[in-house]
Amino acid sequence: MSRAKISIIGAGNVGASVAFKLAELELGDIVLVDIIEGMPQGKALDLLEMGPISGYDLKIVGTNSYDETEGSDIVVITSGIPRKPGMSRDDLLSTNAKIVKEVTERVVAKSPDSILILVTNPLDAMVYVAYKVSGFPKERVMGMAGVLDSARFRTFIAMELGVSVENIHAFVLGGHGDDMVPLARYTTVAGVPITELLPKEKIDALIQRTRDGGAEIVKLLKTGSAFYAPAASTVEMVESILKDKKKILPCCVLANGEFGIKDTFVGLPVKLGRKGVEGIFEIKLTPEELDALHSSANHVRELCKRVHELGVL
Ligand code: NAI
Ligand code: 2OP
Repeated sequence: MSRAKISIIGAGNVGASVAFKLAELELGDIVLVDIIEGMPQGKALDLLEMGPISGYDLKIVGTNSYDETEGSDIVVITSGIPRKPGMSRDDLLSTNAKIVKEVTERVVAKSPDSILILVTNPLDAMVYVAYKVSGFPKERVMGMAGVLDSARFRTFIAMELGVSVENIHAFVLGGHGDDMVPLARYTTVAGVPITELLPKEKIDALIQRTRDGGAEIVKLLKTGSAFYAPAASTVEMVESILKDKKKILPCCVLANGEFGIKDTFVGLPVKLGRKGVEGIFEIKLTPEELDALHSSANHVRELCKRVHELGVL
């Protein structure tokens, strides 16, 4: 059986960390693409030289062209600029929309049957750009954000309760922005909802820290944004697809009436398998939770409108 092929566009902090974890898990051959000459080649060689120690036998290529990406099963798009202190994810819209458009065109020309996982911010609008430009069915275009936001929520709950992160399941839905929707009712510690374990004020504080999770790291790093947890989140999605695990993960996907949302990319609970998005789980939400999800979806729609106003699409 031939190995899967995973291409990563943008070999910066997130892209290189995705490659590192993919290699360790031996999930497939890897192609790293970047516009900076020598950089993806250097990182790919470095990763190859890690093989004898980590025990993987993979083809890992770094390149400035798309030729080597031909026939990829999955393409992870991280190319673009990250934010600096004081910037919101939305401030990246104009620069990154142009980059994602160009990159998607080139990816699709070489890998028309691939599954696209977007990481570039502002995430939900970038998934929309890739969907429009690729012409791919909605099952094969998705974005990573909910897995990361949920992991942050899980981390903060574990820290608060002094229990293992492994016991905590959390769902953060909505767009990857300040109005994301952490669902406390569906967040459990060993099966028990946190609403039964923590007072409302404490849960509200943990939710706020989750909403500010990206900015908290930007403020500390000063020169860029988070990359280890984002990379691990992306790899969890890649693994669920390639191994056809059918994990239920919060991912940015096209809503087509689910939760009363139409024609909008937003974070929803989905089943990820070898075909990509194999279903959207319509869990029951309270009117307040639905309102929050709708207002997050409205924000994404505004951003997508701006992509058109900017003339990118
Ligand atoms: P980075 O600056 O370390 O890497 C970005 C790379 O993209 C650079 O190496 C750059 O040369 C490359 N690039 C730029 N234009 C390109 C093009 N046309 N073709 C190929 N490569 C190109 O940034 P980092 O930290 O890796 O973040 C990447 C993006 O991911 C940012 O937009 C960031 O905001 C976003 N992000 C999103 C997360 C999410 O939850 N969805 C989490 C973390 C980051
Ligand atoms: C984050 O949440 C930058 O969106 C990225 O860390």
